[in-house]
Amino acid sequence: MTLYGVGLGPGEADLVTVRGQEVLENADVVYSPGRLSRTVALNHVDESKIGDLDFPMTKDEAKLRAAWKEAAAEIAPNARDGDVAFVTLGDPNVYSTFGHLRRTIDAFHSDVDLEIVPGVSAVTAFATAMGVEIEAGAGLSLREAASGHSPTGPDRMILFKVTDAPATHEGLVAAGYDVTYGRRLFMEQGETLVTDDPREIDERDYYTLAYAEKADLEVEQATAAFGTDESGSEEATTADTAEAIDD
Ligand SMILES: C[S@@+](CC[C@H](N)C(=O)[O-])C[C@H]1O[C@@H](n2cnc3c(N)ncnc32)[C@H](O)[C@@H]1O
Repeated sequence: MTLYGVGLGPGEADLVTVRGQEVLENADVVYSPGRLSRTVALNHVDESKIGDLDFPMTKDEAKLRAAWKEAAAEIAPNARDGDVAFVTLGDPNVYSTFGHLRRTIDAFHSDVDLEIVPGVSAVTAFATAMGVEIEAGAGLSLREAASGHSPTGPDRMILFKVTDAPATHEGLVAAGYDVTYGRRLFMEQGETLVTDDPREIDERDYYTLAYAEKADLEVEQATAAFGTDESGSEEATTADTAEAIDD
C-alpha cells in the first residue's frame, strides 16, 4: 500500500484538488504536521482517521532528525498495511515539512511506496490574490525573508516567511523594489489581508508572504498597448500569433 504526501492548497477546503480529496477519503490514517492543515483536512476526512504525531518546534538538527525518525517509525507500518496520507498546506515539495518525512522514509523504510499529490502552492495563489500577472517570458524567483531579512537581486521575487514586514520592507525599498504583502491568502483561518503598507501587518504572522518587483522594471506586452482608439483593431488582436495560445 502507499504513503501519500497530499498538498492541501493555501487553506480553503475547496482548493484541495479532486485527487487530493479522493486520497483523503480513501486513506486509513491521515497525519498532519499542524493545526491549520488538520483543520483543512477535516473537511474531507472524519476526525477518527486523524493520526497522532508530535512535531518539535526546533531548529536543532539532532532533535529534528530524532523526531522525524520517530514519526516515520509510526507512519511506515500503517503505510505497509494500508493507505496513509500526510498532508501539508500548499504543495508538499515547496518549502514543506513533507521533505523531512520523505527523506526519513527513504533512509529507514525504503520499502514503503510513496506518492505525491501536488497542491495549489502559495507560489501560484499569491498572483491571483494580489492581482499580479507574471507575464510570458518573465522571471520569478523564490526567496525566504524570515526575521526581517531583505533578499535582493532578481527583478521579481516571492518572499516566504515574512515575519517582520517593516524591517524587510526597509531593505527592499532601499534596493529599489515595490512590495506588496499578502497574509493568509485563500485561507479559512484568520483574516486575509493584501497591502503595500508593512505597518498594517506588523503583528508577526507566519502565513505572510511578499511580492517584490523592481520599481523601474519595464514590461512590454503586445496586449498592454491597447489604446482608446485601438480596441477591436485587427492589428492589436493578432499581434502575437507566433506564441502558443493554449496555456
Ligand atoms: C513552510 S512554507 C510552506 C509553503 C507551502 N508548502 C506552499 O507550497 O505554499 C510557509 C510559508 O509559505 C507562505 N504561505 C503559505 N501559505 C500561505 C497563505 N495561504 N497565505 C500567505 N502566505 C502563505 C508564508 O510565507 C509561510 O511563511
